[in-house]
Amino acid sequence: MNSKPNVCIVGGGMITQVQILPSIYHLQRLGIVGDISVSALNSAPLRVLADDGMLKKAFGGQNFAAHPGLDTDPEQKFPDMFKDVIGAMPAHSIVVVAVPDQLHYAVIDTALANDQHICCVKPLVMKYPQSLEIEKRAYEKGLIIGVEYHKRLDDRALMARRLYREGKFGEFRIGHAEMNEPYYYRNSNFQNWCTCENSDMFTYVGCHYVDQVHFITGLLPKAVSVYGIVDKYPNGKAGYLWTDGRVIWENDACLNVTNVMGYPDDGPGGNFQGIRMYCAGGDKSAMLVHNDQYRGVEYCYIEKGTEPGDTYYAEPSPDYFKYVDLGGGLTPVGYGYRSIEYIVKSICKGIEISSGLDEKQALTERQKLIKQYDEEGVMATPANSSYNELVMEAGRLSILNNGREVEITYGKKAGVDFRRY
Ligand SMILES: NC(=O)c1ccc[n+]([C@@H]2O[C@H](COP(=O)([O-])OP(=O)(O)OC[C@H]3O[C@@H](n4cnc5c(N)ncnc54)[C@H](O)[C@@H]3O)[C@@H](O)[C@H]2O)c1
Repeated sequence: MNSKPNVCIVGGGMITQVQILPSIYHLQRLGIVGDISVSALNSAPLRVLADDGMLKKAFGGQNFAAHPGLDTDPEQKFPDMFKDVIGAMPAHSIVVVAVPDQLHYAVIDTALANDQHICCVKPLVMKYPQSLEIEKRAYEKGLIIGVEYHKRLDDRALMARRLYREGKFGEFRIGHAEMNEPYYYRNSNFQNWCTCENSDMFTYVGCHYVDQVHFITGLLPKAVSVYGIVDKYPNGKAGYLWTDGRVIWENDACLNVTNVMGYPDDGPGGNFQGIRMYCAGGDKSAMLVHNDQYRGVEYCYIEKGTEPGDTYYAEPSPDYFKYVDLGGGLTPVGYGYRSIEYIVKSICKGIEISSGLDEKQALTERQKLIKQYDEEGVMATPANSSYNELVMEAGRLSILNNGREVEITYGKKAGVDFRRY
């Protein structure tokens, strides 16, 4: 088994450009991963990645194999090419899934069929039964899957998790979270896939703070209702671009989640995000507030950048993903990088413990490791984060029915259904 796994990123869009590819390049520079390939629907986004000035500056001399090739007609589409690319990699390589939400399952299915480990951007899949199937198939083959909820690797979330579990806050009662993406996102590829029939803003970004509350408290959601307002994208397609969700937890606590594609383009942040949780214990209340958008940095430039959302006055977050100059190119820092590193290193551990063992022993060792990851709950795995698929299913059912409350059932009869009054 290859001790330095090759990596194939499937999907060459925004998240690959700003977080995944630079993180994987850095891991290659550190000698942790081998060759890198990127597969997209057509060559256009791959050309953008290959020409990206920041990537060139940060990782001079490093590159990726493009599928389809960079010289291919940018209009020509190759929806199944990722299957050949994944099939051609040695078993126990790493497939990073970074295609639109509704296509994750097909890529994961191919990766598992070809004995590859997986790092998948959130959400893993959009249907709970699919997440159960993926969990089972991966476990049977001892394949490690990490779901990339990068906020889990934000130190403030890890601090809150430890302190909450030590009882410092008492019990969560009520709270509010927001993750609001900028208005100009409507002009991007979102208009082709984040449409009413596929997704909505609650599904797309609301899951981050639902996952934060679970990650910190260990509580599971039991009911969801999501109200959405439909807006037209520039291409005329319709999307739920303003959403308000209410999540009721197993202890009757309530989290209200606002998610919009409407943060002002002239606002000082790249988006708006944060959470406020009120808790109680004994005869006292407690509070946990994360201002995740304003992290204390205030800049005013003499020139405004030319990218959408660039402003004179800005409050950039140093914590998600930034490049710093530590010599030898640029180094990515922040929880966006740490999250990819954590998942890749967790997979590499599985590859290392397999080395020198016969297939049966190696499988047993990797399965032990998978159970350990499931139980630790730091890396999101199909087993410990599939409640998210139920929340997504409940949210979709609710938003498509004008915000009706949908209940979640766990266990053998797991599923979602309208609440009966
Ligand atoms: N905060 C987060 O965790 C976060 C943030 C952004 C995006 N995401 C997730 O990342 C995924 C991608 O988002 P994005 O913003 O990069 O989208 P995007 O629209 O910018 O890019 C999608 C990419 O998928 C490729 N693609 C589509 N069909 C394909 C196929 N059949 N084979 C190979 N490639 C194909 C396209 O060519 C494109 O490069 C989504 O699931 C999204 O939810 C997560």
